[in-house]
Amino acid sequence: MNYIFTETQLMIRDTARQFAEEVLAPTADERDEKEEFPFEAVKKMGELGFMGMMVSEQFGGAGLDTISYVLAMEEIAKVDASACVIMSVNNSLVCWGIETFGSGEQKEKYLKNLATGAMLGAFALSEPEAGSDATNQRTTARRDGDYFILNGTKNFITNGSQADVVLVMASTDRSKGAKGVSAFIVEKNIPGFSVAKKEKKLGIRSSDTVSLSFQDCRIPAANMIGEEGTGIKLALKTLDGGRIGIATQALGIAEASLEASIKYAKERKAFNHPIAEFQGIQFKLADMATKIEAARSLVLNAASLKDRKQPYATEAAMAKLFASRVAVESALEAIQIHGGYGYVREYKVERFLRDAKITEIYEGTSEIQKVVIARALLK
Ligand code: CAA
Repeated sequence: MNYIFTETQLMIRDTARQFAEEVLAPTADERDEKEEFPFEAVKKMGELGFMGMMVSEQFGGAGLDTISYVLAMEEIAKVDASACVIMSVNNSLVCWGIETFGSGEQKEKYLKNLATGAMLGAFALSEPEAGSDATNQRTTARRDGDYFILNGTKNFITNGSQADVVLVMASTDRSKGAKGVSAFIVEKNIPGFSVAKKEKKLGIRSSDTVSLSFQDCRIPAANMIGEEGTGIKLALKTLDGGRIGIATQALGIAEASLEASIKYAKERKAFNHPIAEFQGIQFKLADMATKIEAARSLVLNAASLKDRKQPYATEAAMAKLFASRVAVESALEAIQIHGGYGYVREYKVERFLRDAKITEIYEGTSEIQKVVIARALLK
């Protein structure tokens, strides 16, 4: 299917492709191996406007639409899924959350810096006992005059140890359950805030995933986002858009798997023929390409609905559910096409599989996406 993109959207895609090939590609494998955060690349992403793509220009952003964001993220994910998730969390979760729900003062103080890349953001909803069951928040924020006293632990926090500010969900009234959760902007380096554990991961190893601990952290009441008790709705609404980002990440990984497979199949000879001449290989490529095209349609559909200010939560869940499965399947097939070479680090496809798997887990597992879709069907 040929999508009609505007000149601006195509220019953004080409800029992202060039950036990914010139800046990310040369170091992606080594950073994955060494679990190194891409400091220089993230700085450059800020300069290019990629850290606040959908933030309005008034607040330092690029003022672009979701389609442009998807096109840029796709190019970055094709080369480096770790850089992609760093960008995705800052854009989809932190910037979008603050721009949509934050006060004018919060936007001036935080959003402007987050959108330009001067600050990095993290989104802290998950806890040891609140993953899929996100409303079961144990972190508490107790009112104390003009402050809230924050206590608790968040885990699996992307960008957690590198972030300057963390958007934290915490219970301000446990007796009210989901309706007693509020959202706060928490600055790093405040007393009582610490990184409790850095995770050693299967994939996206160049991104930063940590547990955060809050012990009697004094958060100014002015840093609460939105009304008290609206934190869960804010988080889930923000995740609706986040899921378009992760679906895009999955799409990029799937495309990279297909491109690597086509290249290898043309070069590799067996029985005196390039393996691309064998139907067993051709059918795999055809299936991968067809599923990728379907995933792209779902992602662009969700992005386009969001841009047109129409409901998109169900479509975003569908895009993430489908694209993440296609990413895992495509990476597995890419390894099969590469044979033994696919199983070793010399070729990138083993990284694609390791990176793909998380797209079926974070920002809502595939099972949670099905819950969201089914609820919409049955309501
Ligand atoms: N937008 C706005 N509000 C929403 C909403 C949405 N998409 N979904 C639900 N809500 C509201 C509900 O209406 C309800 O409010 P009311 O009682 O006033 O109606 C409230 O939020 C609680 O919702 P539910 O009653 O539906 O809650 P639930 O416990 O039954 O489950 C869930 C909801 C869909 C399972 C949800 O918990 C969920 O999506 N879980 C997955 C969490 C997740 O995606 N975590 C990702 C962590 S962040 C991350 O991964 C980032 C990263 O590192 C990359």
